[in-house]
Amino acid sequence: MSEVNSALWAGRFSEAIADIAHRFSSSIALDGKLWREDIRGSIAHARMLGKTGIIAIEESDQIIAGLEAIAQDIETGAFVFDASMEDVHLAIEKRLTQQIGSVGGKLHTGRSRNDQVALDERLYLKRAIPELTGKVSEVMNSLLAVAEKHIETILPGYTHLQRAQPVLLSHHLLAYVEMFGRDSERLNDCLRRVDRSPLGAAAFAGTSYPISREMTSIELEFASVLANSIDAVSDRDYLIELVSACSIIMMHLSRMAEELVIWSTKEFGYVTMSDAVTTGSSIMPQKKNPDMAELIRGKVGRVYGSLINLLTTMKALPLAYNRDMQEDKQPMFDAIETTGGSLEMMAFLLRETTFHSARMLSEVQNDLLTATEIADYLTRKGVPFREAHGITGSIVAYAVDHNLPLISIPLDVLQSYSLQFKEDIYGYLNPMTSVREKTTVGSTNPDMVRKAIARWNVKLGRMK
Ligand code: ARG
Repeated sequence: MSEVNSALWAGRFSEAIADIAHRFSSSIALDGKLWREDIRGSIAHARMLGKTGIIAIEESDQIIAGLEAIAQDIETGAFVFDASMEDVHLAIEKRLTQQIGSVGGKLHTGRSRNDQVALDERLYLKRAIPELTGKVSEVMNSLLAVAEKHIETILPGYTHLQRAQPVLLSHHLLAYVEMFGRDSERLNDCLRRVDRSPLGAAAFAGTSYPISREMTSIELEFASVLANSIDAVSDRDYLIELVSACSIIMMHLSRMAEELVIWSTKEFGYVTMSDAVTTGSSIMPQKKNPDMAELIRGKVGRVYGSLINLLTTMKALPLAYNRDMQEDKQPMFDAIETTGGSLEMMAFLLRETTFHSARMLSEVQNDLLTATEIADYLTRKGVPFREAHGITGSIVAYAVDHNLPLISIPLDVLQSYSLQFKEDIYGYLNPMTSVREKTTVGSTNPDMVRKAIARWNVKLGRMK
C-alpha cells in the first residue's frame, strides 16, 4: 500500500489504494498530453466561479495565476508528470494546491472530472480536426499539381485490375481529389458536433451551485452548450465519428498507396519514386523498395483498430460515466497521429514521384483498350449494340491470336467482320480520340478535366 493516503478523496477512505491498482488505473502517461486543454478549461471555470460570485474574485484571480504558472512550468520542464499521479486532472489540481495553498481546493467547485475529461477531449479535437483537414488539403494539392502537369497523359484504366479503357492520368488522380474532398467535409461535419461544451454537467446530474455554463462555453469558444448533463459526460460518439472519418481517409490513402506500389513495379513501370522516399535491400543490391507507400497501406490497420476499440469500449455501457471510458485516450491520440502522419507522407510522396507518360501511352496504344470504340463505331452505323459487341469480340480474338494491337489490324480484315468499317475507324482507335469522345459530365474528356481542376483550385485557394 502507498504509505500516505494523499488522494483528493482521502476523507472517505481509511486505506490508500494498492500500488498494483494504482499502476493499473493510472492514465497520466497518456492523458498528460491534454494538459493545455485541462488548464484552459480550468481557467475558464475559475473565472466563471469568480464572476458568478461562487468564489471571491481574488480567489478566482489567484487560481488563474496559479494555473498559468503551472502551464509555464510544464512548458519549461520545471513540472514533469510522473507515474505516481493518477491522471492529468488530479496532477494539475494537486500541483495547484501545493503552489497556492488551500484556495486551490476551490477550483473544483461545481465541477467533476467527468465533465472535465469530456471538455479536455473536445477542446483537443477542436484543435486537431482543423489540422487534419489542412493535411487532407495538402494531399489534394499534391494530386492537383501532378494532374496539372499531366492533363493529357493517357494511361490504361482498369476494372478488376484488367485493362479496360484509356483514361487521362489527370482524371484518375482527380478521382482521389474528390474522395479527399468528401473526407474534408466529413471532418468539418464532425467538428460541428464536437463544438459543444459539456462543462457544467458536473458528475452527470448538473450542480446546485449557480454556475453559468454559457459563460464558460463562450470563453472556450464553443458554438453551444450540450443540452443534457447525463449525455454530456456519457457519450464518446464525437470521438467515434472522428475516428471513422480517419478510417475512411486511411482507406482512401491505402488505395492510392497500393496503386503507387504496383505502378512502381517493373511490370507496370508507370512511376518512379525518388531516393528520398525509397529504401534499398540489405542483401539484393538492385532493390529500390516503395516502403513509404507500403507503410501508409500498413498503418490503416491501426486506425481501423482504434475505431473498433472505441466502438467496443462504448458498447452496452450503462449511463452515465464509467471508468472504461478512460481507455478512449490511446485510440484517440493514435488514430489522429497515424492519420495525420500518413497524410503528410502521402503529400510528400506524390511530390517525390515521377509519372512516366510515354510508358503509359505505349501501354495504351499497344493493346486492346479501344475495343469499346469499335463497338460504338458500329452502333453509330446502325448495328444493334449487342451485335456490335459480338463482332468486336471476334475482332479482339483475332488480335489476341495474331498478337496485334487493335490499331494494327488491316482494314480488309476488319471488313471481313463487318462491311461498315471504313478508313475512319483508325481515328477512333487513337486513345486521345477515345478520351475526347467521352462527352458526358464528369467523364475523362480533357476539357472536362480542365474544368474540374479549375474548380478545385478555386475551392482550395491554390495559387496559379
Ligand atoms: N481519467 C479519467 C478518464 O479519462 C477521468 C475521469 C475520471 N472520473 C472518475 N469518476 N473516476 O476517464
